[in-house]
Amino acid sequence: MGKKKMIHEFYEMRKSGEKITFLTAYDYPTAQFAEAAGMDMLLVGDSLGMCVYGYSGTIPVVMDQMIFHSEAVRRGAPNTFVIGDMPFMAYQSSIEKAVENAGRFLKEAGCDAIKLEGGVRIVDQIRAIVDAGIVVMGHIGLTPQSSGQLGGHKAQGRTAETAKLVYEDALAVRDAGAQMLLVEAVPPEVCGFITKKLDIPVLSIGAGPDADGQLLIVSDMIGQFQAFTPKFVKKYCNVADTITQAMKTYCEEIRAGKFPSDDHCYGMIKGEADKFFKLMKE
Ligand code: KIV
Repeated sequence: MGKKKMIHEFYEMRKSGEKITFLTAYDYPTAQFAEAAGMDMLLVGDSLGMCVYGYSGTIPVVMDQMIFHSEAVRRGAPNTFVIGDMPFMAYQSSIEKAVENAGRFLKEAGCDAIKLEGGVRIVDQIRAIVDAGIVVMGHIGLTPQSSGQLGGHKAQGRTAETAKLVYEDALAVRDAGAQMLLVEAVPPEVCGFITKKLDIPVLSIGAGPDADGQLLIVSDMIGQFQAFTPKFVKKYCNVADTITQAMKTYCEEIRAGKFPSDDHCYGMIKGEADKFFKLMKE
């Protein structure tokens, strides 16, 4: 198991051109698998609202859910950089609330950093959280918590004018002190330009290959999430089929009396079965 990478090492990776590997995780076993696979960073994303809780979006997710899942991920991946994702209304309504909730990820869940969505309009929150000594990852482009305003989960920055707005968000987040930036669902040209212009590690989710690293949602990447698949997702396996098939076979074997077999039963200590039946006759 490798040593946990810290923020300065992500800057070194950016400088040397070594790509940063980044995945979401919501629970202990998945975090263990990711750490064993050598993942550089894990995001406990509020996407757990859809991937774990079955909500139709991320809006209903609350801080306590994020803390419980972050604790589990921390336990599963003690040697991986873990980022806690600030859910909707954990930071938008006041700067004090933003700092307090960001602090909870570090104090209660042992996270290494926090992420929050938005550019120009949340720079005051970013600055205050950074001033509290917390590593911040910004998140711009498609920001799912404001998908209502964006007209749905749509790619951003596809015209010259809107690409300029995405770039202005990137600059604002960097200037406010964020030490990393996540860019979601923008064309590769735009993310590549941002990566070149900024001096902090830039991560892409659906924003092309020219960033310092890549993020996917684990439930998409392993073929677990069924509701829809964004264009940028690559499925590396299909656990939904594997698990459903295993469960079908389990049902069939129970119904056919094939499970459990002797292999799955505890034997009585030698001679004790005879004694037991004799005892029961008395
Ligand atoms: O919650 C999450 O997993 C995220 C990704 C969509 C970037 O914020």
